Amino acid sequence: MVKRNKVTIIGAGNVGSTTAQRLAEKEIGDVVLLDIVPDLPQGKALDILESSPIYRFNAKVSGTNNYADTANSEIVIITSGIPRKPGMSRDDLLKTNANIVSQVTRQVVRYSPDAILIVVSNPLDAMTYVASKVSGFPKNRVIGMAGVLDTSRFRTFIAMELGVSVENVNAFVLGGHGDTMVPAIRYTTVVGIPVAELIPKDRLDLIIKRTKEGGAEIVSLLKTGSAYYAPSAAIVEMVEAILKNKNKILPCAAYCHGEYGIKDLFVGVPVKLGVNGVEKIIEISLTPEEKAGILKSAEAVSELCQSVDRLGL
Ligand code: APR
Repeated sequence: MVKRNKVTIIGAGNVGSTTAQRLAEKEIGDVVLLDIVPDLPQGKALDILESSPIYRFNAKVSGTNNYADTANSEIVIITSGIPRKPGMSRDDLLKTNANIVSQVTRQVVRYSPDAILIVVSNPLDAMTYVASKVSGFPKNRVIGMAGVLDTSRFRTFIAMELGVSVENVNAFVLGGHGDTMVPAIRYTTVVGIPVAELIPKDRLDLIIKRTKEGGAEIVSLLKTGSAYYAPSAAIVEMVEAILKNKNKILPCAAYCHGEYGIKDLFVGVPVKLGVNGVEKIIEISLTPEEKAGILKSAEAVSELCQSVDRLGL
């Protein structure tokens, strides 16, 4: 029998359950949803499974509160944590989510020692550091999801501005997930045309600002939680790149060994994603301004990681 891929999602909340649905509908693998709340992941998984005859997908979707059921997953996606409330910054979440991510990672690693971890909990760059530190996994097997989401938001706004298909827009966003993200304008194109030739600077600046505040915009509209449709789509793109060994270049939070002048930190950079997780960090040439932006971003991440270290997890 050909073995199907197994993907575990920790946290059966909005991001986790929407990711489970998308993965199952695309038949990317069997999905295990785990949550600390009794019955919640079982209920969500069963509900997704009951849509399979209509949507015609063949995937096992199960829910559990027991880590033994996650054993030997190829990929584990960590979404557990509390989401941002209106007016709360990602960094306010640091302490609570660092404790949750650290507990969860310990359990995950016990049952899936060869998995690739995709971290989604916020503050993203710091939580990726927590998962890396606690797991002790090789750095290529711990990746944070942020850049694909930020880029997707940026592409959406550019397409809206120009009235063209989102499929025509390619964009690159580097740096941390938050106010310090760095949209790389020269690599942002519409059917190959640099975006700066199509959108006047003042309009583009507004689009960049909206992208940076993209998460907060959704939080203030939803009032009771944070974004999950676009985040789950971004996770699925990463999972597909890995499990199908696509070697797809996507912006992700990856461990830098000196690339872009950043050492020993997880920061958003372009990476080639394949079956080993981060196959390679791609170094693109940056303007002095972009370079300063990414270093500033790295500094902010470094401060958060120092706060994590002080928690003594
Ligand atoms: N173990 C397992 N699950 C946990 C734990 C834990 N220790 N602690 C919390 N959870 C679960 C919650 O019970 C909840 O079901 O994590 C889930 C989080 O779901 P939501 O509150 O709906 O949050 P969501 O919108 O999915 O966001 C998850 O992703 O984008 C980030 O900032 C966001 O950190 C947040 C994460």
